[in-house]
Amino acid sequence: MLFPQAHKLRCTTEDASRAGIGFKILSMAMTAKTEDVRQEALQSTQAATSAKNLMCRIVKLLHEHMLKYNWVGFYMVENNSGQPPVLVLGEFEGAMTPHTRIPLDQGICGAAASTGKTVVVDDVTQDSRYLACSLETKSEIVVPIFVHGRVVGELDIDSHFPAAFKDEDRTLVEFCATLVGQYLEKNQA
Ligand code: SME
Repeated sequence: MLFPQAHKLRCTTEDASRAGIGFKILSMAMTAKTEDVRQEALQSTQAATSAKNLMCRIVKLLHEHMLKYNWVGFYMVENNSGQPPVLVLGEFEGAMTPHTRIPLDQGICGAAASTGKTVVVDDVTQDSRYLACSLETKSEIVVPIFVHGRVVGELDIDSHFPAAFKDEDRTLVEFCATLVGQYLEKNQA
C-alpha cells in the first residue's frame, strides 16, 4: 500500500514545536513518502512480467506520486553495427517529446549515457547541452542504467519546477534505475 506512514504528515507545526522537533518531523514526513515510493518500485520488480512492463510500472509510479516529476521516461541505447549508438525513447509518462532518438554526443541525456554518471540540472536555461522538450521544463535529472557495467539506457525526468531534484530525489531515481539494470541482468543474461 502506498503511503502507510502518511499520518506523519498530519503532525501540526504546533505539535512539532511543542515537542521541539518541528524540522525533524517535517523532514521525516518527506522521507516517508519517498520511502513508500521506493518500496512500491521494489515490489514492481516482483510483479513485472518483462523489462518493458517494469519500466512501464516505474514511469507510472514516479509520474503519479512524485508531484514535481512532470515527465518521466526511459531511453535505451540502440547499437547498430557500423553506426554510432543512439538513445531511443522507450516507456514514458507525460507529453510527447520531439526527442525520440538522441545521439550520445547530444543533450543532457547523451551526457549521462556517455559518461555513465547521473546528471542533475537545476536550471535548464543555463545548460548549453539541454535539448528542449517543453517550454515548461525548468530542471532535469538523468540517471544511467547499467548491465554488467555497461550503460544500456537511462531514466530521464523533467520538472516544471527549478531545482526540483534534491539528494532524496537523486537517491530514489538512482534506485529505480538500478532496479531496471538488475532486472535486465537477471532476465537477459
Ligand atoms: N532534455 C533532454 C531531452 C529529452 S527530454 O527531456 C524528454 C536532453 O537534454 O537530453
